[in-house]
Amino acid sequence: MLILGIETSCDETGVALLDDEQGLLAHALFSQVEVHADYGGVVPELASRDHVRKLLPLCDQVLADAGKARTDIEGIAYTAGPGLVGALMVGGSVAHALGYALDIPVLGVHHMEGHLLAPMLEDNPPAFPFVALLVSGGHTQLVRVDGIGEYEMLGESVDDAAGEAFDKAAKMLGLDYPGGPRVAALAEKGREGRYRFPRPMTDRPGLDFSFSGLKTFTLNTVNAAKDAGEFDEQVKADIALAFEAAVVDTLTIKCRRALEQTGCKRLVIAGGVSANKRLRAGLEKMTAKLGGSVFYARPEFCTDNGAMIAYAGAQRLRKGQKDGERIVSVPRWPM
Ligand code: KG4
Ligand code: ZN
Repeated sequence: MLILGIETSCDETGVALLDDEQGLLAHALFSQVEVHADYGGVVPELASRDHVRKLLPLCDQVLADAGKARTDIEGIAYTAGPGLVGALMVGGSVAHALGYALDIPVLGVHHMEGHLLAPMLEDNPPAFPFVALLVSGGHTQLVRVDGIGEYEMLGESVDDAAGEAFDKAAKMLGLDYPGGPRVAALAEKGREGRYRFPRPMTDRPGLDFSFSGLKTFTLNTVNAAKDAGEFDEQVKADIALAFEAAVVDTLTIKCRRALEQTGCKRLVIAGGVSANKRLRAGLEKMTAKLGGSVFYARPEFCTDNGAMIAYAGAQRLRKGQKDGERIVSVPRWPM
């Protein structure tokens, strides 16, 4: 079955073509980072308009790259939520219009299920069951995964998501959006031990997270350095490193707890923050000690992309699941 995957939940237009036997045939992404750069965050209306401009050309591009015609497509998966409602509507409208014209099934899928299953696109995919750490700009969740659609929420952030914390820390350090990769790059020049940030909620039982205190701690540290006239490039790098180390440690401690609690040996990390090298290294060290292993997607499939939506949709379309005639757009949608 040849599936077209469409992702438009936020600021990336992602399209992919997946054959459920041959695997991924082609994928393309247009990032709107430049569109929103002057605003310090994603402007929803600009995002929707840009998806309108880019989506059909990207669909044609992946078809051309794979040597296929529109009429070869046998099913369409699009992100139905969670996300920005206008942005979601663009993907849903195009998916349904194409599906109607081609008389093929169309299915709206959950964006976080897409992230969760993205590591399945790699050569050595994890077997079920596993524990998944979903860390994106909007979510920080620990989920037990027993199969497609068999998800048990083990814990989640009670306030900010890990990616959001990275983005806010970046702003305080004078870095542009999206901040995660920029904080990580700056942290590479940081000196260990100059600052120590707290590891929130690790001193009590449970698998929930909280990152808003870390944000305040970062702000206070930045302000103190400014007041002391010390806020130079080196100190910024030291703060970036201390911040990143605190997030990574916190996530690692909770992941270890989740593996111990469930008895699972496999840990999957997904979502934008799973591209973070320090996080990958920390989790690999921790799981190795437990005799387990970590699975993640290639960096381009950690952040938003069409391939993960094609994959998640394929699992369900194959079983006969499909939308009715209505476009499904669910801005807030628990998994
Ligand atoms: O999954 P994603 O592309 O979009 C959402 O669904 O939210 O995640 C984006 C988030 C942003 O907050 C970005 O700063 C963060 O992932 N991110 C990173 C890295 N790459 C992206 N955070 C830390 N280190 C990275 N290397
Ligand atoms: Zn995402």
